[in-house]
Amino acid sequence: MCGIVGYIGPREAYPIIITGLKRQEYRGYDSTGVALINDEGLLIYKQKGKVAELEETLIGKSLHANIGIGHTRWATHGEPSDVNAHPHKSAGGKLAMIHNGIIENYAQLKKELINKGYTFRSETDTEVLLNFIEEIQKNSKCDLEEAVRIALKRVSGAYVILLLDQDNPDTIIAARKGSPLVIGIGKGEHFLGSDATPMLEYTKEVVYVNDYEIAVIKADQLILKNLGNEKQTPYISKLDIELAAIEKGGYDHFMLKEIHEQPSTIYDCLRGRLDAEKGTITMKGIQDNIQALITAPRYIIIACGTSWHAALVAEYVIEELCRIPVEVEYASEFRYRNPIINKGDVIIAISQSGETADTLVAIEKAKEQGAFIFGIVNVVGSSISRASHAGAYTHAGPEIGVASTKAFTAQLAVLLMIALKIAKEKGTIDNTKYSRLLVEMHELPEKVEAILKNASQLKLIAEKYKHSVNALYLGRGYNFPIALEGALKLKEISYIHAEGYPAAEMKHGPIALVDDQLPVIFVATKDEYHAKIVSNIQEIKARKGKVIAIITEGDEIIPSMADDIFMVPPADEIVAPVLSVIPLQLLSYYVGVAKGCDVDKPRNLAKSVTVE
Ligand code: F6R
Repeated sequence: MCGIVGYIGPREAYPIIITGLKRQEYRGYDSTGVALINDEGLLIYKQKGKVAELEETLIGKSLHANIGIGHTRWATHGEPSDVNAHPHKSAGGKLAMIHNGIIENYAQLKKELINKGYTFRSETDTEVLLNFIEEIQKNSKCDLEEAVRIALKRVSGAYVILLLDQDNPDTIIAARKGSPLVIGIGKGEHFLGSDATPMLEYTKEVVYVNDYEIAVIKADQLILKNLGNEKQTPYISKLDIELAAIEKGGYDHFMLKEIHEQPSTIYDCLRGRLDAEKGTITMKGIQDNIQALITAPRYIIIACGTSWHAALVAEYVIEELCRIPVEVEYASEFRYRNPIINKGDVIIAISQSGETADTLVAIEKAKEQGAFIFGIVNVVGSSISRASHAGAYTHAGPEIGVASTKAFTAQLAVLLMIALKIAKEKGTIDNTKYSRLLVEMHELPEKVEAILKNASQLKLIAEKYKHSVNALYLGRGYNFPIALEGALKLKEISYIHAEGYPAAEMKHGPIALVDDQLPVIFVATKDEYHAKIVSNIQEIKARKGKVIAIITEGDEIIPSMADDIFMVPPADEIVAPVLSVIPLQLLSYYVGVAKGCDVDKPRNLAKSVTVE
């Protein structure tokens, strides 16, 4: 996590860096800092708090410079504080460095440096690495690039680092392993970022730096080398994101904007792939690997957080439609045990950011065992998309709100298309059902639009329950993962403790929580378990719990039992999760806003979790 930004060229560096940091704040926002070099020397400004707070503090300060780096932090080593904020200055005072990642052997390096007389201002692993680099440069009498190379060979862990050297004010040194680094190529200028958002209005040409590469960047020159000091050819990619995609566009929060974008993001995801009239699904990543996918004895889906919930929906759908056994694994658990991967098993990795460290390492681990990796990723060019053998982008556009919303429904849309395509090729779905489900998928954007028109109903429900301390989310079948997702959304946005459970599991424990204060949110759209979930609602009502039910239009049973209802358009149970999650996203949003929470940047979270 943490966001990094850099600039070198003829423009003023500070405004580019500060704007870039605001766009990277989704990666962490507990402290901020910038380093600039100008006639006064190396200037470092940093403090605890968000980018806007630093900007306020810096009014009137010396900020004129054509080279600079900036950082927005998600704390790993050392609490959020002014002193632990990046950039750090080396003991000798001439180097400044920012870092995203974790230096795992920092304690050992720190000990070596303390033995040599170094003292440390901060508790960070970053300051240790910086002084380690400085010490190497001093001892080996080499240039900074060489010192960085030597140091990084000793380092274990993950990093992106950007370094400024007061004695070389025309150069930024950057290096990457495990955390993302994008370099934007302008005319006589270069931009750096954890993603491409800081450079969108300046260039469409970018280089995604690979692991173990060091970049020496001047205004008009970019040299990439590996740790063996061999030159690498930068591969220039074209960006297809527009600036408008990362702005709020009149909404109060990115989260609300992204929730409301879902009719178009789902449409974009289906566009060019699903043709309901012709009855076709075109997905190159699937077609090119169809034999491996059809004959696979098993799929293992790895993901974290909300992406893991999408994987759970996929498990139900793929097993039902394709008759292929599916296992869903938390990437963080999968990677640390000794997973059994049999010949032919397919690994599906799902990630919005494409940078989640646990998912990335799990992929590498599966690859070592010869598995075929299919990635489902939102961010184009991200590490997971590049680490996969094949894949499908979700095309949801940049997701800035820390809580995932539109990326989740796009993941579901992609997974449903994959399941339908494979089922069709494998012959495990009959033509009528296949055609009907394609039409249902095609209708999704319109149905989501209809749900969003009634958003104000959820605002009223949110007002009623905003003071709750706990909440229980229940669902069955395809809607069970949606109950989990609803609970996750509520807890991250409003800090209300919430749990998701399969509705039938309630009586095996969680029912003990039910009293007249507990809101129980039922995801109870019409499906084959409807009668069962009606019984579960009665069980809650019998214990005086408050029932909020997400139901299908035309349901005549649940409205008379529930305290509050929200209706979604009718849909086949297989596609229904795409609809039933939308009111839960809105409910969390409105509860968060009603409680005065920072919904776009909930405390302690970061959008891109690049630590393990
Ligand atoms: C929750 C949320 C997180 C992410 C998780 C995985 O709203 O956003 O739980 O889903 O950190 O991130 P990705 O999908 O980027 O791998």
